[in-house]
Amino acid sequence: MPVTYARQGRIGLITIDNPPVNATGQAVRAGLMEAAQAFAADDRAQAAVIFCAGRTWVAGADISEFGKPPQAPFLPDVITAIEALEKPVVAAIHGTALGGGLELALGCHARISAPSARMGLPEVTLGLLPGAGGTQRLPRLTGLAAALDIITSARQIPAAQALELGLIDALATGDLTADAIALAETLAGQPPRRTGDLPAPDADPAATDALKATLARKLPGQIAQTIAVDVVTEGLALPFDQGMAVERAGFLALMDSPQRAALIHAFFSERAVGHLPQLRQAQAAPLDGVGIVGGGLMGAGIATACLLAGLDVTLIERDDAAASKARGTVAGLLDGAVARGKLAADRRDTILSGAFRTDTDYAALSKADLLIEAVFESMDVKHQVFAELDRVAKPGAVLATNTSYLDVNAIADATARPGDVLGLHFFSPAHVMRLLEVVVADRTSPRAVATGFALAKRLGKIAVRAGVCDGFIGNRILSHYRAAVDAMVLDGADPIAVDRALTDFGFAMGPYAVTDLAGLDIGYMTRQRKAADRHPRDRVPVFADRLYEQGHLGRKSGRGYYDYAAKPPVPNPDLPALLVAVRAELGLTPRDFTDAEIVARTMAALVNEAARVVADGTAARPLDVDVVMLNGYGFPRWRGGPMHWADAHGLDRILADIRHFAETDDHFWRPAPLLVDLVATGRRFADLNKEPQS
Ligand code: 3HC
Ligand code: NAI
Repeated sequence: MPVTYARQGRIGLITIDNPPVNATGQAVRAGLMEAAQAFAADDRAQAAVIFCAGRTWVAGADISEFGKPPQAPFLPDVITAIEALEKPVVAAIHGTALGGGLELALGCHARISAPSARMGLPEVTLGLLPGAGGTQRLPRLTGLAAALDIITSARQIPAAQALELGLIDALATGDLTADAIALAETLAGQPPRRTGDLPAPDADPAATDALKATLARKLPGQIAQTIAVDVVTEGLALPFDQGMAVERAGFLALMDSPQRAALIHAFFSERAVGHLPQLRQAQAAPLDGVGIVGGGLMGAGIATACLLAGLDVTLIERDDAAASKARGTVAGLLDGAVARGKLAADRRDTILSGAFRTDTDYAALSKADLLIEAVFESMDVKHQVFAELDRVAKPGAVLATNTSYLDVNAIADATARPGDVLGLHFFSPAHVMRLLEVVVADRTSPRAVATGFALAKRLGKIAVRAGVCDGFIGNRILSHYRAAVDAMVLDGADPIAVDRALTDFGFAMGPYAVTDLAGLDIGYMTRQRKAADRHPRDRVPVFADRLYEQGHLGRKSGRGYYDYAAKPPVPNPDLPALLVAVRAELGLTPRDFTDAEIVARTMAALVNEAARVVADGTAARPLDVDVVMLNGYGFPRWRGGPMHWADAHGLDRILADIRHFAETDDHFWRPAPLLVDLVATGRRFADLNKEPQS
């Protein structure tokens, strides 16, 4: 029984026990209805408390039920029934009260919370709006501005702030259970205070319009936030019951939207990436001490991520000057965390005087449980470093490389313990980006894999398993669709128009703005490195080489595809002439590209390579690709990731596009066999999303 009713003296005790997060699935809703009826019928009970067992209060509706036929009783009706009771009910909140969970608490007649609890209405992150009274009850407690902020930002507010806002009535000072029962005792025999009976706050059309304009600018393409604002304001202008009807209509309309399906796919995929057999086969190594070799851009960022998560870090550099520079970089990143309110100033000082050490002697790494190499992208240098790590690391220490492209099997060969070696591919800036590719080489042990996933969890990151290949999951797919994009520019597309078409599609940044950010030198060096392996029919972005040769490296030199002397940046005024010259030199006659063709070619290339990445096992499932592209490459979350998007768009249409593009370039545009097979058998990528067997 997920919900039970008991009584202690004159207080009814309703307990929800539905692991892991007490979501309000059908059984909980039915149980709550019965418990409310039992309390109402219990003449000896004069007030009641709702508690939750386990680690949290109700974390919301059961998301796995969404998209399936709804089953009565419905959550809004359950909460309305509780609110309508003639005797007061107290919500005793611990952990997180989210979505329908917070709405349940809002329907109770008083709320008390553990000081550590957090509350929020994250529905918009799932493409929904609060659908169990949150849009109508929350503003009646906190006022309109705070409620709109909580609903549209989806942020979780700490209990102390919830108290200030009037969202809860009290913070527990001792044991939550005892304090909640004591509060119920004070309310026993009194008429219940119903949130729905409170007056609605006044409308503020100017503030509401300003908020909608900000949302449209910050979240282009996303619909849930703006609809939520409309539902709140339209509903509050009406009597409570009619306001609830407005909310219901808005909620059900969003439930049918493709954005809801995409965002819920993203939610479950981000959890499913951790469902791997290897992770059940072995315990992770402890993570008390982490060693990092190389304190440049990535090493310093990784060190900062570890320090912010409370880990001890020893960082090795080549000499004292480099070590001191790395120390300065880490201190600067920690200062940034202090400025953003992510780290207390005194904690920063403790970290720099204790948890963080720099050295030039590998012997300082002898106690570390996990060692992460982030030195130059050169196999020779990596081999030297791994030979040193093999010499000093304690038995059982896990040895990781942050290489972007190099062969992790070959790196492991530099040690006598290849089972302990894996890739941990962080993304820049490493203390901010949530993605971590855990690269599993041929001999990597399940324990090393489990350690990579445990590290990600500790750092608040999302780990995705990847196989060894040039670029792993993300960079390999990126290289491929970048080639398609560069080919369009060679054939006449304007890079600025390409960026605009793809940001209009929803990408966080266009590919040429990204190149400017990373530096044109990175791509140039990669092209140089791979020049020997180039096929004669591979198309070379000569315009990119030309910009580099002219000293235009992007943001770091002030000019690339854009000119950064202007604020905000403007397109590089010399670029059109450079493109004209390059195309003439190559004998290419430029043609126009519509935004639709730019998106179609980019997405076809992306999905085609992603299909190969899944087929050859580099990614365990299509959903692993989605999680990588969403969290490392700015793919729009509300489209669910490229594989989810491809299923929704139609694999047959994508295959037809590829065959059409192949009419003019059958070297680049070769359909992935998996894509052909899925179309032939009427299947989708989603059909391959089951848990991998090995
Ligand atoms: N429904 C169904 N399953 C849920 C769930 C939910 N609301 N919330 C979490 N789960 C599942 C996860 O899928 C995961 O399952 P798995 O172990 O099989 O992968 C398991 O519970 C544990 O979740 P996490 O790994 O996320 O655990 P954490 O401790 O890291 O986080 C949490 C806990 C903060 C509660 C986080 O799970 C979370 O944010 N959950 C979603 C909260 C949410 O969005 N609620 C609103 C739902 S919509 C709604 O309520 C509509 C209403 O207005 C009508
Ligand atoms: P970087 O050039 O900024 O830093 C490399 C650092 O390693 C330098 O500080 C150098 O002094 C140090 N170093 C070199 N040899 C050393 C040795 N033998 N012992 C100790 N320290 C040594 O390079 P960056 O960008 O930090 O890249 C490092 C690695 O991370 C590379 O393998 C790169 O491919 C990978 N990577 C880079 C990303 C990026 O966006 N720059 C993203 C993900 C991975």
